[in-house]
Amino acid sequence: MFSKIVKTSIFIVASATILVAGSFNAQAEKDRLALQHYMLAKFKNPVANRAEYFPYMPLHILKTQYAKNLKLSDFLLGSYAYDLDARKQYTELNEFPPYVFNVSHGEKLYNTKFKNGKSFKDCFPNPAIKGNYPYFDTKKGEVITIGLAINECRVKNGEKPWKYGKGKLADLDGYFAFKSRGQVLNVTIPNAAAEKAYNAGKKYYYSQRGSLKMSCATCHVQGAGNKLRAESLSPLLGQYNHFPVYRLKWQALGTMQRRFKGCNKNQGEQPQKLQSKDYRDLEYFLAYMSNGLKLDGPDIRK
Ligand code: HEC
Repeated sequence: MFSKIVKTSIFIVASATILVAGSFNAQAEKDRLALQHYMLAKFKNPVANRAEYFPYMPLHILKTQYAKNLKLSDFLLGSYAYDLDARKQYTELNEFPPYVFNVSHGEKLYNTKFKNGKSFKDCFPNPAIKGNYPYFDTKKGEVITIGLAINECRVKNGEKPWKYGKGKLADLDGYFAFKSRGQVLNVTIPNAAAEKAYNAGKKYYYSQRGSLKMSCATCHVQGAGNKLRAESLSPLLGQYNHFPVYRLKWQALGTMQRRFKGCNKNQGEQPQKLQSKDYRDLEYFLAYMSNGLKLDGPDIRK
């Protein structure tokens, strides 16, 4: 009898632990599903839902220039998912995507030996790794992005770190992205510290900042589907999955954090150093919001 009670209580304790372990992402899951729900509703029928979602958009534009019935996978296209004119240009550009040169440069960098005879292959034996990035390193207690992991590998092997955001680092990121195409993004929140990092990223995203007192969400959640000068604003959902992007404006590949800098400026906010704690937590939040969607980077953007 006694052993039965002991066994039962061990069972209860064990299942309680599992419950707790499984709950670090409970709020994040609610956030993710609510975002999907909002975006699907918003882009189901922009004409019929004008009063709710697009009150300032002229009706004839909604009628002629907007796609409807967007599916989850359409959100990988950013603003090209709904903006029919921009989609046409995007489809044409994709016939000869300019990033192929960056991807092959990235592959060369992956295979090039460091001075110590090792190479990136020793750190990343399989280049198809982006489905699990960024991740929370439970020993270090911080978010590890692919950019940070690339430079950690270099430093560990006695090489100088690369500049973040563009150039060689973005090209290697582009090669990893290309090899990871089709993987389902699976960012995890393994413990309480990771949940804290997620919450910090979320808070950053929804806080008004800069001289314009706008939040990221002003433009990419509530504002998604609207125009800012000549630009159509892309939805938060699906933004993570296609990075790094080849921007025509940059004439090169750039990482997601390079975009953060530009958007901070859009807000009238002083940008941070790439790979700052804020930017990594922000990237963790953005990635989590697109969990469950496939990866399709690199991609092209205006
Ligand atoms: C004043 C409006 C505005 C604000 C505020 C803003 N952005 Fe943007 N953002 C843009 C515009 C315009 C673009 C280019 C068009 C597009 O893809 O949305 C863009 C593009 C992006 C992209 C690239 C999307 C893609 O598909 O390639 C990301 C990622 C992004 N922003 C993140 C952020 C984050 C994070 C914040 C908050 C720190 C932020 N933005 C704040 C206007 C804004």
